Amino acid sequence: METIRVKDRDFKLFLPKEAIQARIAETAQRINEALADKNPLFLAVLNGSFMFAADLMKHITIPCEISFVKLASYEGMQQGGKIREVFGLSERIDGRTVVIIEDIVDSGKTMQQLLDSLNTRNPAEIHIATLLFKPAALSCPLTLEYVVFEIPNDFVVGYGMDYDGLGRNLDQVYTVVPQ
Ligand code: IMP
Ligand code: MG
Repeated sequence: METIRVKDRDFKLFLPKEAIQARIAETAQRINEALADKNPLFLAVLNGSFMFAADLMKHITIPCEISFVKLASYEGMQQGGKIREVFGLSERIDGRTVVIIEDIVDSGKTMQQLLDSLNTRNPAEIHIATLLFKPAALSCPLTLEYVVFEIPNDFVVGYGMDYDGLGRNLDQVYTVVPQ
């Protein structure tokens, strides 16, 4: 089994590139069928989704647009919670069909805050496409329509996702080896 080292931890190959590409093509096909006449606006959440967004969009064959957003984090005043605000969104989204492209939904809090923020701009509908979903970690109710892989609640790296800033460039997904 292929093992790599990222910073100070070992990771083993979890999702090989062929499997990632095959499942992304299937997910794109579902989106093509469901949103054919909606001229969707894809919103890729940087940094983590850059590889997934690029590969997914190569298989989207319907009329569509794509834009990129970042989530700026700051410590909230209440309960010391982290608040994340969307920035970089220059397009109007009122009345639009929006498809969020994310790398991973873990607790779901990031996605929930993104939805809350986008919903204040009156889109017609918002769909979610995420490469990975950890069902066991989810702490808020979310409807995830386009999940490429459901995975166990273990830390992963690669294919856009980082460990302390490192590993985003890997073309496969690796899971941490317990110490
Ligand atoms: P959530 O708000 O708990 O759903 O966390 C989502 C964000 O945490 C993702 O967009 C990632 O940036 C990061 N994240 C969660 N799990 C992992 C992981 O296993 N590896 C790398 N980043 C992760
Ligand atoms: Mg992310």
